[in-house]
Amino acid sequence: MEIKISPSILSSDYANLQSELDRISNADLIHIDVMDGHFVPNITIGAPVIAAMKKVCDIPFDVHLMISDPYDYVDAFSKAGADIICFHAECESNIAATVDRIIFLGKKPAIAIKPDTDVDVVLEYLDKLAMVLVMTVEPGFGGQSFMERVLPKIRKIREMRPDIDIEVDGGVDFSTVTLAAEAGANVFVAGSAVFGSDCPADAIETLKNNAESAINQ
Ligand code: DX5
Ligand code: ZN
Repeated sequence: MEIKISPSILSSDYANLQSELDRISNADLIHIDVMDGHFVPNITIGAPVIAAMKKVCDIPFDVHLMISDPYDYVDAFSKAGADIICFHAECESNIAATVDRIIFLGKKPAIAIKPDTDVDVVLEYLDKLAMVLVMTVEPGFGGQSFMERVLPKIRKIREMRPDIDIEVDGGVDFSTVTLAAEAGANVFVAGSAVFGSDCPADAIETLKNNAESAINQ
């Protein structure tokens, strides 16, 4: 599996987004956290900001929708420039209809599950999904601690689908990236570990190297 690092701009300086994107030009994906203050107790950014970022960045956008009704917004995020559109299994929209709409729009569909959500809820959609996002913190905020108890869910998906992208999000740092990689994850979101570093590009390389060594052990 190809290892991909997806830095979360949630931990970046929103007043200087263009220069922050320049500091992570070696990233494989750009992880953009969209929160509606309803699905999670926090509000971040929406489609207009993503459209503005798209004009200054060529790296694919990995858009993580932490919103109650993703079906109603996938068209707007597609138009804004999302490449992967990831929504939560715990949302209020119809899951199958939302996956189909994302595919119809020509984007890559992904489903995210919170730490306490049973992995079985995504299994019936695996054949249509480009990626599954296994949250290793409660969604809503950066800078939380990685929950190791979530790792068996990654192992289960990897056993069923050796080829699918499995992303982990929350508390991923130079050490926990190896735990997630050993369990079978290959796409790693990191906010604090990248933007909390003096050199975000070096942090991306270290995360990638550590994940690769864990997988090749
Ligand atoms: C949390 C977000 C994450 C967050 C991760 O709800 O989905 O993407 O930015 O931040 P760190 O890497 O600091 O845990
Ligand atoms: Zn996220």
